[in-house]
Amino acid sequence: MQKWIAPGRVNIIGEHTDYNDGFVLPIALSLGVVCAAEPRDDGLVRLTSAQRPGDTVEVQLNALVAQRNRLPGWARYPLGVVDEFVRGGHRVRGVDLELDGAVPIGAGLSSSAALCCAVTIALRDLFAPEITDRQMVKVARAAENDFAGVPTGLLDQSASILCAAGHALFLDVRAFTAAELGATEQIPFDLEAAGLTLLVVDTGQPHDLSDGGYAERRAQCEAAADALNLPALRDATSEDLPRLGDSVLRRRATHVVTENARVLAVADKLRTSTDPREIGELLTASHRSLRDDFEVSAPTLDLAVEEALDAGAHGARMVGGGFGGSIIALVDHADRVAEHIVNRFAATGFAPPRVFTVEPAAGAHKLN
Ligand code: GLA
Repeated sequence: MQKWIAPGRVNIIGEHTDYNDGFVLPIALSLGVVCAAEPRDDGLVRLTSAQRPGDTVEVQLNALVAQRNRLPGWARYPLGVVDEFVRGGHRVRGVDLELDGAVPIGAGLSSSAALCCAVTIALRDLFAPEITDRQMVKVARAAENDFAGVPTGLLDQSASILCAAGHALFLDVRAFTAAELGATEQIPFDLEAAGLTLLVVDTGQPHDLSDGGYAERRAQCEAAADALNLPALRDATSEDLPRLGDSVLRRRATHVVTENARVLAVADKLRTSTDPREIGELLTASHRSLRDDFEVSAPTLDLAVEEALDAGAHGARMVGGGFGGSIIALVDHADRVAEHIVNRFAATGFAPPRVFTVEPAAGAHKLN
């Protein structure tokens, strides 16, 4: 069988900005979801996953929507992608899909986007080679939003499809949605050359985008933009913020306005400076803003960030949607910082975190 891989991601900066038409700066991980695929011509989709042994799902292409609510949760992501291809009028007559995922689930590292993107690139190559990378991002997102029912923005799927090894992806979400030129830029991100390491600390406290907090933040951002009479919070400036009478909406908008500015500042430093340590303070400021103004952090995430900084990290922040999941820390001495965090988690009585290093890896591609 032919095989494809799509990676998970960590976002260097730009959290909860994507659905506000703003800016993000992710890297792809070397951990990904592998999708082996083979066409069939009997109208059947047959799906297996190495992580769900014995749980084979078989469904007729023309019954995908009708069967949706009876499908196991994990199967809705890949089958949502198949449904997008069918609805797009592509000549899919059936397919075998075998999945194998290495992105930790619930860690805020986009395991679900990696899953959708792996199936998307497989089906693109098999059935619809005319589909562009930009369209793949939209297909994978639609599968997750419409079929799996999880209201994500564009960050995760863009990272999984568009990232390049050794680079961070600067993405202007509004320009990308409008298909404008210059919406994406690959910015060299070579930490090793500067003697630096990017640590991921997976706190083990699962985050779940379908549990309501994420959708509530989206609604609050829309309400703030409406109250300011702006198309999206992307268009707000710090002068607009006092006009928001509701203090919750004002804090949510403050996060988005300041976070967009931080993404631009980090991108600028990476383009012009020789020392990536200079982005550290902006990463930490992002965490404080997510904690205090956007209120999506969690005690385990705050502890991991503060202990990383205590142990000498140049900057640290929670990544992804929040309420659990992982942090990143920019460090000189990975082992020392990791050990310190693990010890502090043990002393506080939290479950042991999983700490590992990451480097900017390639986006989705064919393996054989
Ligand atoms: C999740 C969503 C993304 C993005 C982040 C927060 O990962 O899937 O679209 O909104 O949260 O930055």
